[in-house]
Amino acid sequence: MGPSGRIHNFGAGPAVLPLEVVEEVAETLPNLGGSGFGLMEVSHRSQTFQDVIDSAMSRLRGLIAIPDDYEVLFLQGGASTQFYMSALNLMSEGGMADYLVTGIWSKKALVEANRIGDASGVWDDSGSGFRSVPSDGDYSVRDGAEYLHYTSNNTLFGTQFHHLPESGGKPRVVDASSDICGANIDVSEHDLIYAGAQKNLGPSGVTVVILSPWASSRRKEGLPTMLDYQTHISKGSMFNTPNTFGIFVLDRVLAWVERNGGLEGAIGRNSEKSGVLYDILDSSDFWRPHADPGCRSMMNVTWRLADESLEQVFLEEAGDSGMGGLKGHRSVGGIRASLYNGCPIESVEALASFMTDFESRHG
Ligand SMILES: Cc1ncc(COP(=O)(O)O)c(C=O)c1O
Repeated sequence: MGPSGRIHNFGAGPAVLPLEVVEEVAETLPNLGGSGFGLMEVSHRSQTFQDVIDSAMSRLRGLIAIPDDYEVLFLQGGASTQFYMSALNLMSEGGMADYLVTGIWSKKALVEANRIGDASGVWDDSGSGFRSVPSDGDYSVRDGAEYLHYTSNNTLFGTQFHHLPESGGKPRVVDASSDICGANIDVSEHDLIYAGAQKNLGPSGVTVVILSPWASSRRKEGLPTMLDYQTHISKGSMFNTPNTFGIFVLDRVLAWVERNGGLEGAIGRNSEKSGVLYDILDSSDFWRPHADPGCRSMMNVTWRLADESLEQVFLEEAGDSGMGGLKGHRSVGGIRASLYNGCPIESVEALASFMTDFESRHG
């Protein structure tokens, strides 16, 4: 068990948040910053909340170096809504867009884009179990494509891009749901970035969308109001009631990241945490890491046991030792440890010593 009777939580999302943030939020529930309004009871039209959303936006801009001429939105509907909304706003009627299919989430994004135009999976690793991401020479972007879409970190399979994918000079669109603010993503090299907050940034129910001038100028007439980026840009993400609670928590998580070394600090910790687990996974044939070494994720470490019948025992014993959220996604099976920003190194050390002990008893 960790502090306050909390388990070591390796869940893939909604995921563990820093304990000091959770405690700060708890204190704010009855009275937000001395305003007399509880955190969940304050109007989004009040100055109190305007200060919160302004603060969250400016922290995010600073932390991940969002260029001044980019728009930042806090929407609802999850990354899953963005699969469709991004294509709806960015693709011309009957236009073309190219997708790197490195997992189930990018596959879903491709399906949604095909509702708008001719979206093509120009690279698809489903045949070999989504163990890798492409190198630049492995695919080519079609001449007529209006953008290239990819998923920077594949939450289910535990693979991650460690380079900026070549887009043939086309705008890049990235689903960064599971590594935003936890890995190196050069915002200025992208035209649209979207991410659900519930892994690295805060609670579920807030979706961050970042648009370049190119993306925010892709105007189409007659779009459904709530699916038109212009609606939300023109109203500062408050066309309708935003997720006030979620945006407040997001601001507090970002303040915590700032206090702990900023983006560089987060990347350093995520690299260290994942390194501890990969070292164990590489140390014997007892373990079968899923991802190819050059494409391994710092955020989600996925593996099987050589003797798959031991996996259930592993999960049960881990549970008995105060560790949760380790069951792999049903499409991969096995074990997955998610190590987002809020996951402390102490949890990873506890898991590492459990794994060493487990191997000595069952190996
Ligand atoms: C990479 C990625 N994209 C999209 C999603 C879907 O996000 P949401 O549930 O916010 O729609 C997830 C959720 O785990 C994800 O990991």
